[in-house]
Amino acid sequence: MSLVEFTLNGQSVQAPVGQSIFNIAKDLGIAIPHLCHKEGMTPDGNCRACVVEIDGERVLAPSCCRSPTAGMKVQTDSARAQKSQNMVLEMLLADMPDQGHKWLEDRAEAPHGELSQWIDRQGVQLRPQLAALRRDAVSADVSHPAMAVNLDACIQCNRCERACRDVQVNGVIGLAFRGAQTQVVFDLQDPMGASSCVACGECVQACPTGALMPKTHVGNQVVDKKVDSVCPFCGVGCLLTYKVKDNTIISVEGRDGPANHGRLCVKGRFGFDYAHSPQRLTVPLIRKAGVGKHGGAATLESGHDDAALPVMKRMMNVVGVDGDAC
Ligand code: SF4
Ligand code: SF4
Ligand code: FES
Repeated sequence: MSLVEFTLNGQSVQAPVGQSIFNIAKDLGIAIPHLCHKEGMTPDGNCRACVVEIDGERVLAPSCCRSPTAGMKVQTDSARAQKSQNMVLEMLLADMPDQGHKWLEDRAEAPHGELSQWIDRQGVQLRPQLAALRRDAVSADVSHPAMAVNLDACIQCNRCERACRDVQVNGVIGLAFRGAQTQVVFDLQDPMGASSCVACGECVQACPTGALMPKTHVGNQVVDKKVDSVCPFCGVGCLLTYKVKDNTIISVEGRDGPANHGRLCVKGRFGFDYAHSPQRLTVPLIRKAGVGKHGGAATLESGHDDAALPVMKRMMNVVGVDGDAC
């Protein structure tokens, strides 16, 4: 592997050629604000929250999509870089609704997910002059049975579009219009529920601010526990994490595993209500002898051993052993 040597915040660093300044800094424990970039996604470089100062360059560079060259001198925390990073965060915050959709834990005063995280971390204060320029309110789209679309919290970071196109290969989401009118749209600006969305929820998992959320988990993000599990629906074996509140699953997140790399389909992501259905079987049932499927009270409750015995007998008969001898 060929290496490149450069200076990062005054420290001499060697890194693989082609690696981004952002990732090199991250490996060294240097945090740079970022919103449009997410690990595993192709860097897009559109939010400019991650800009850094490079000696001799007129403009600041987005660290998520810039690689160092030999001898380059990079500052992630110079006064100029920080001023610009903070200005981006402040301008985005100025456009956010007061009541956001993805709180940091249970903090209603930090209601914009990753944006609130960086605002907190960088100590950004929103100036009233900027707040006064907030964009017009956008109405919510709750046409989808599982997902809420609140574009008043959208920062046009494009993560949902990349998730839909690159991860799910569905291409439902696009950015339409220009300038301040730029807007996330589903198909030809259809309501999400009427679009060709396959409800995988990848966009929801990718959205940094809560503009796209599972309907069951808008607002307060505190849960009682998170349970790592395996999707029960098919044999692929996707890993996931159940978020549980009051002993009820309220949302699901894809977990990195060999079969899914954090992705889920509609069943794994949203098909969890069966776990709490009153119709769910809680004890084994045995069909009464001679009663057909629709013959009224066709089954008897039984213990697990009693239910397993007839099955075992039949299987032994199939393989040629006298099951009735059991
Ligand atoms: S849920 Fe999946 S298919 Fe639907 S818009 Fe989001 S990423 Fe695309
Ligand atoms: S909906 Fe979320 S992921 Fe999509 S562009 Fe807006 S903020 Fe980014
Ligand atoms: S995170 Fe680099 S430009 Fe958005």
